[in-house]
Amino acid sequence: MRIAIGNDHAGIEMKAEITKLLQDRGHEVVNFGVDVPGRMDYPTVAKPAALAVASGECDCAILICGTGIGMSLAANKVKGIRAAVVSDACSARLTKQHNNLNVLTLGARIIGIELAKMIVEEWLDAEFMGGRHAERVQMVMDMENE
Ligand code: RB5
Repeated sequence: MRIAIGNDHAGIEMKAEITKLLQDRGHEVVNFGVDVPGRMDYPTVAKPAALAVASGECDCAILICGTGIGMSLAANKVKGIRAAVVSDACSARLTKQHNNLNVLTLGARIIGIELAKMIVEEWLDAEFMGGRHAERVQMVMDMENE
């Protein structure tokens, strides 16, 4: 897959670790984040990364900030994006199976790197279940046109 990754100043170290994990798994990683210390406002990163997913340029995105919350708020403003901050492996799997999440956000100041890696692997390995879940996801996406 072609995976967008992005981070603000709080997520530099975690971004590097997650990038390595993704590349080791054979994915192409497109970096929208910062790699050097210094203030970087999360909407500045979230917007182009989310647009890359919405346009189909990337298959999905992983965005990292201090809490993961700012990145999820910003990414969800882009039409076609379903972003959420995830802090446990069970939710990581279920949010792909039930919500078809296309942008995963992580809080580098909230969870450790090993848990972050586990979350990413669960999310990537899970598959959307469709059926009644597809109907519900469609109801959410229809709200973008109201
Ligand atoms: C940056 O200090 C911090 O506010 C940001 O990384 C994020 O946690 C916001 O949601």
